[in-house]
Amino acid sequence: MRIEDIQSRMNTRWLARSGICLECVDSTNLYAGRIAEQAEHGTLIVAEEQTCGKGRRGRSWETEKRVNVMMTLLLRPEIRKERASQLTLLMAMAVVRGIRDLTGLAAKIKWPNDIVVNEKKVCGILTEMIMKTDDSYDVMIGTGINVNQMEFSEELIHAGSLKTELGKDISREELIARILDVFEELYEVFTETEDLSGLYEEYNEVCVNVGCQVRVLEPGNEYVGTAHGINKIGELVVQKETGETVCVYAGEVSVRGLYGYV
Ligand code: BTN
Repeated sequence: MRIEDIQSRMNTRWLARSGICLECVDSTNLYAGRIAEQAEHGTLIVAEEQTCGKGRRGRSWETEKRVNVMMTLLLRPEIRKERASQLTLLMAMAVVRGIRDLTGLAAKIKWPNDIVVNEKKVCGILTEMIMKTDDSYDVMIGTGINVNQMEFSEELIHAGSLKTELGKDISREELIARILDVFEELYEVFTETEDLSGLYEEYNEVCVNVGCQVRVLEPGNEYVGTAHGINKIGELVVQKETGETVCVYAGEVSVRGLYGYV
């Protein structure tokens, strides 16, 4: 994959105007962290292969080389640092729109930021932050999308790819370009209010959990309730069986359906 083949297909004003495509790297997020000092806001890092891909909650992210998307956006947002984790949800929305536009597949978000197609996980997002001074920081939004992979190891029982669901190859360059176009648009809406006021309704329209029973797995605490969607700061609003309403912050939490992954 060549960075020019992504850039020639996208229409962004500033996002990913600077970027690099690597043949093999430990992790695009780690790489982004290493170049953060010199790199400009909006830099895109894409890799054909990762030897040490990182997932959420300390897990690893294993993915076949050359057929999938492994990318990180390096951002230097001028918003309060407490708000920066909400950028992950913007990326989830951008991936959903990108997949829908390009393939017609009914991609959905499993809160907070897994993308599922036909109840199979096709994309995961890991956002990390490096503090520079008290109020300046870099954010790395790492996105892994299973695009043209056809086989998955036995442990990954919930995994699928766009190709397993669509039945044909998808251009990774086209997909990345579309996602970047949408992300830039969402980013501008987000930074106006520094929250999801202008976006949470669209998020909830494509969120699989809305109206469904979920099991919330917090470290040391587990409960069941009905998910009502996210609020303006990206927390999942859940009504417990006791009637009490709680707002769940993504952090270390995982949400499962009662009868499976979704
Ligand atoms: C998850 O656990 O669902 C998040 C997976 C995130 C994987 C992507 S692949 C590109 C970027 N680099 C990494 O090391 N991780 C993210």
